[in-house]
Amino acid sequence: MTRGTLLLLLLLVAISPSPAASSKNEASSRAMDQIIAKMASKRSSPPVQEAAARALLSRLLPTHLSSFAFKVRPGSCGPTACFRIRNAGTAAPNAPEITIEGTSGVEVSSGLHWYLKYWCGAHLSWDKTGGVQLGSVPPPGSLPRVGGGGGVTVKRPVPWNYYQNVVTSSYSFVWWDWKRWEKELDWMALQGINLPLAFTGQEAIWQKVFKGFNVSSENLDNFFGGPAFLAWARMGNLHGWGGPLSQSWLDQQLALQKLILTRMVELGMTPVLPSFSGNVPAIFKQIFPLASVTRLGDWNTVNGDPRWCCTYLLDPSDPLFIEVGDAFIRQQEKEYGDITNIYNCDTFNENEPPTNDPSYISTLGSAVYKAMSKGDPDAIWLMQGWLFSSDSAFWKPPQMKALLHSVPIGKMIVLDLFAEVKPIWEISSQFYGVPYVWCMLHNFGGNIEMYGILDAISSGPIEARLSPNSTMVGVGMCMEGIEHNPVVYELMSEMAFRNHKIQVEAWLKSYSYRRYGQAIHQINEAWHILYHTIYNCTDGIADHNKDYIVELPDYSPHMKSPEISREGQMMKIRHKT
Ligand SMILES: *[C@@H]1O[C@H](CO)[C@@H](O)[C@H](O)[C@H]1NC(C)=O
Ligand SMILES: *[C@@H]1O[C@H](CO)[C@@H](O)[C@H](O)[C@H]1NC(C)=O
Ligand SMILES: *[C@@H]1O[C@H](CO)[C@@H](O)[C@H](O)[C@H]1NC(C)=O
Repeated sequence: MTRGTLLLLLLLVAISPSPAASSKNEASSRAMDQIIAKMASKRSSPPVQEAAARALLSRLLPTHLSSFAFKVRPGSCGPTACFRIRNAGTAAPNAPEITIEGTSGVEVSSGLHWYLKYWCGAHLSWDKTGGVQLGSVPPPGSLPRVGGGGGVTVKRPVPWNYYQNVVTSSYSFVWWDWKRWEKELDWMALQGINLPLAFTGQEAIWQKVFKGFNVSSENLDNFFGGPAFLAWARMGNLHGWGGPLSQSWLDQQLALQKLILTRMVELGMTPVLPSFSGNVPAIFKQIFPLASVTRLGDWNTVNGDPRWCCTYLLDPSDPLFIEVGDAFIRQQEKEYGDITNIYNCDTFNENEPPTNDPSYISTLGSAVYKAMSKGDPDAIWLMQGWLFSSDSAFWKPPQMKALLHSVPIGKMIVLDLFAEVKPIWEISSQFYGVPYVWCMLHNFGGNIEMYGILDAISSGPIEARLSPNSTMVGVGMCMEGIEHNPVVYELMSEMAFRNHKIQVEAWLKSYSYRRYGQAIHQINEAWHILYHTIYNCTDGIADHNKDYIVELPDYSPHMKSPEISREGQMMKIRHKT
């Protein structure tokens, strides 16, 4: 196949006709329109977003800085978000060749990525999974022209593209400096992510908030987990383990978070900030003897040693819960400014309410919401829907409905966290009318074996959106750890812009062409096999295949000892939860 024919094939793969009519749930879609408008008002101005996208280009492809003209025009695609790629028109030397217009800096960046992929045959991935491969991009002055008079417009079928899991910080990010973060934020913009979780530095905020409740920094030494265990300490699964955190660590993480948030907003993203879930230090019980604080059981921690396990949960129905939650929201706004209204909270994740009485669950839910909306009246509660899969024995329809309806429609967004394997939208009348994000979880525990279900990714979000009374408002990637299986993440990222199911076999040809720089028959054959085998893991099991190719070389005769089987046992418990 010649290069020309292949590019034509890539183009056919790339361009899809306008979106098919869907049958959206009216109430949830009206509420979402309001949220979208509100969040758009918090982004940087169009010129700042344009500059952020240009700065990204200067990091990615500095040789072509003058080849592209960028334009951010919010509202240019009506209520939807889109990017448009067209020829710039003029042929003067050093004049831009290609214009990329988008409704935000993220759309412009995704348009750039789309152009580099489907007109230039380039491939972009994390450094650990192949990195940036731009050798196929022609030199300035000879960039491929975009066919069709008005160029090509790609509209998002759903407004949101969410990224991260509450544990990704511990599996992947924790030791990153700004340089690495900046790269990731570029990657996010290029993939079209506009709703990223932003959890960095929250311990520094907690330190300040708890100080206002007479909790000293020393009292937090047995509360915060060490850097590698932040995620589980934040969730109240364990405390103190790997800690304490030094003041310089806390300060440096807060400074990093400010850089991250500034860049997110400049690019036109809506960050999701943390909120109070009830997790309090041990000293709280002494300072507030009348508060309703429960000591939780041993979730799964180091030898059940009470120094590390059995954290303290302030009951959402206690008035103090709202005070702490309010203080936390206000402290974040004080540090970061008014940049978002969307907050993550997972109070009931792996932590069952004391009774399954729906009216009690509803009271708890509204208290959790009150704790965020007191400080921010426009707060939107973003909740991981993990509890509905992991603890489906407790969360039957009446309990689910009670929690989901404990706040008005439009004040909560749910993540259908494991939708590529166990979609909850199908069995919950679309979360009982509550807007949700179709998420791929894919990776558990930062395991890096080859694994995935390409069929589910390429069709699941489309089926969900087109289903009757759909309340789907986004797609997302909620993997526990990143930097593996690039094919899975590239396909999933594209679903943010795909209005139709992808023909995976053809898409893989384009993928392998871009990734390896040429069309090689044997490689296509290999991908055919991978697609039907390891990338079609439909066993419903979280990816815990033991791939010895990625195991650390630590085999010893003790491997068969009870120590190991206990570890295996813990893995099982961990992933039941
Ligand atoms: C903190 O302690 C001071 C002095 O004992 C007291 O006046 C104040 O009310 C306490 N603050 C809180 C939030 O309990
Ligand atoms: C969709 O909503 C309509 C109006 O509320 C209802 O009559 C219909 O049964 C729903 N369809 C499904 C498949 O839930
Ligand atoms: C993946 O497996 C399912 C059965 O689990 C099958 O229906 C489907 O055709 C397979 N897809 C591919 C690409 O092999």
